[in-house]
Amino acid sequence: MNKAEAKTRIEKLKDLINEYRYKYHVLNESIMSDEAADSLKHELAQLEEEYPDLVTPDSPTQRVAGGVLKGFSQIEHSRRMLSLNDVFDEAEVNAWIQRISKLEPESGKEFFADIKMDGLACALVYEDGILSRGVTRGDGSVGEDVTANVRTIESIPLSLRAKTKYPQFLKGVSEVRGEIVMYKQDFARLNEERKSQGLSLFANPRNTAAGTIRQLDPSLVAARPLHFRAYDLLRESDDEVPTNDFCYSALADLGFSVNKSAKLVYSAKQIMGFANEWEEKRQKLEFNTDGLVIKVNNRALYRRLGVAGKAPRGAIAYKYAAEQAVTVVKDIFISIGRTGAATPVAVLDPVRIAGSTVQMATLHNEGEVRRKDIRVGDHVIVHKAGDIIPEVVQALPQLRSSDVKPFRMPLDCPECGTKLIKQKIEDAAWRCPNSSCPSRSWKRIQHFASKEAIDIEGMGEKNVVALIDAKLIKDPADIYALSTDQLMSLERFAEVSSVKLHQAISAKKQPELARFIYGLGIRHVGVQTAIDLAERFKTIEALSEARVDELSSIDGVGEVVAEAVVEYFSEPQNRQLLDKFKNLGVWPMPFKHKGSRLDGVNFVITGTLKQMSREEAAARIRALGGRFQTSVAKDTEYLVIGESPGGSKLAQAGSLGTKTLNEEELLKLLD
Ligand code: IVH
Repeated sequence: MNKAEAKTRIEKLKDLINEYRYKYHVLNESIMSDEAADSLKHELAQLEEEYPDLVTPDSPTQRVAGGVLKGFSQIEHSRRMLSLNDVFDEAEVNAWIQRISKLEPESGKEFFADIKMDGLACALVYEDGILSRGVTRGDGSVGEDVTANVRTIESIPLSLRAKTKYPQFLKGVSEVRGEIVMYKQDFARLNEERKSQGLSLFANPRNTAAGTIRQLDPSLVAARPLHFRAYDLLRESDDEVPTNDFCYSALADLGFSVNKSAKLVYSAKQIMGFANEWEEKRQKLEFNTDGLVIKVNNRALYRRLGVAGKAPRGAIAYKYAAEQAVTVVKDIFISIGRTGAATPVAVLDPVRIAGSTVQMATLHNEGEVRRKDIRVGDHVIVHKAGDIIPEVVQALPQLRSSDVKPFRMPLDCPECGTKLIKQKIEDAAWRCPNSSCPSRSWKRIQHFASKEAIDIEGMGEKNVVALIDAKLIKDPADIYALSTDQLMSLERFAEVSSVKLHQAISAKKQPELARFIYGLGIRHVGVQTAIDLAERFKTIEALSEARVDELSSIDGVGEVVAEAVVEYFSEPQNRQLLDKFKNLGVWPMPFKHKGSRLDGVNFVITGTLKQMSREEAAARIRALGGRFQTSVAKDTEYLVIGESPGGSKLAQAGSLGTKTLNEEELLKLLD
């Protein structure tokens, strides 16, 4: 290949690699595999090595160029990088709209709303379409020159997209501002790696991203996964970018990743609608966010509103209620679960977190309490996000008074006084071995009647507790001995509801074997294991006689599960419970093979499905004979990929060559 031919080939390769980058980062599409793109980059690098004078600064091979820096020079921003004033509720949003409407009557009518990303602000300067500088926010007026580092971030184009519908921005200076973020998943993976290497852990994705961008060695930055999302485009002449929705369209077309959820809104009500929509959904975003940014859409009006202090009048940050707060541990009690697990729980001074009052937080197990050294009387940081169970993040020993004593796990079950025993598997976990412990009984009965087990409608938590309190039931078998008259004697039940519940119970006297096994609440036996056991042993009698070696020879049943099953059927109380069922005419049907389309086909789901919950998907897969696994293994047939999929499952599937399905494809397969 002569030089002229090499030049043409280099141009073609650069175009194709840039198009791949644009499709991948901006449109979420993939025009070729990563491997194919890598091989194009490799070819480009070889040609450039042969003809070094054909290397341009925007070549995809030039992301990591030059050595370690001595330091960062200071650069003055073309225009100040401002911060935002916070608002927390609808009244404050309304007050803001009123304030700006007084100053500029047209300004309170059309707004542009976006997610507020929790990362670090960065300004990228493009001269005639080529990236020339990357500058951190710094103090807002002067930032640090981190050009060499931002060049390593794949979602930052080294040159603006030539094929754009907005060619005017390819001439002169275009400054693109946005946020550099680290995705939650990448952060977690990075910390896992550090943990396994015995290194100290990073505090959160934002600090990690900020620390990374200030590394003097760009090759270290290249090794850390950072992303850039744009939110602003500045030109010397402001009129060139008339509105923020125009700005976002142009940014995307020029090759930047922008939040697709950003949109126009026209009132405080709509702003609140957008805020409420994202309050829950934001947990599923790749990056952290603690609120929204709302800007006046028309940028001439925005500028006319001016700046007050460090923040523009024409924009606000709508902040979600904090997910962490400091409060005091008033007590630590032990909660006994369905399988007897003894979990320490902190009783807290009630505190508002993320829109609800938190009074209790799980402390998981004794080891966790010791590790975090949480004591009664301590000030602690409590975390609650979405519908997750509140958790104590850490104690603040600096605020501790001298008479506060370390936590000690009680020796006996607080409910029945039986000596607690230490579990073999996790040395930090304790259990109450008494299967008729009263605190276990209501949870056991509720579990037995639950949707995935016997599925008795009307046997929810409140009714179960009322029936136990009235001494009408003590164990799951007692449900079947209830009469309509007994039910009616309780305040909760009228005649119609009593008859209905009685019928619902009677209808479930011959449940499916797998449901019955699951309903017994044997430790470690989930829905899938119960199905596997039913399939192998066919009857409850056979299962109750099974040996550990027979059990653990089943695919997916390990030693721990096998031992738990044997232990369950060896306990006299459990034998008595089975006899009681039999005497009441309640017995599971022997397992019958249904013979179905997805027989023996194993599925794993990663990420969130849009049209059904994970449980529904699992139930539908199982109904067709398929199996639902929790992690990708050699025998996994399909990995179903939902929104925000987990990196480790994808990686495992990639290395094993597992087939993947999206939600639509799964639905087709199930229909
Ligand atoms: S618009 C006046 N849009 O929030 C600056 N900013 O508190 C308004 N941020 O330093 C810029 N996500 O780095 C805008 N979608 C978004 C944003 C966003 C995060 C940051 C930005 C700024 C800070 C202001």
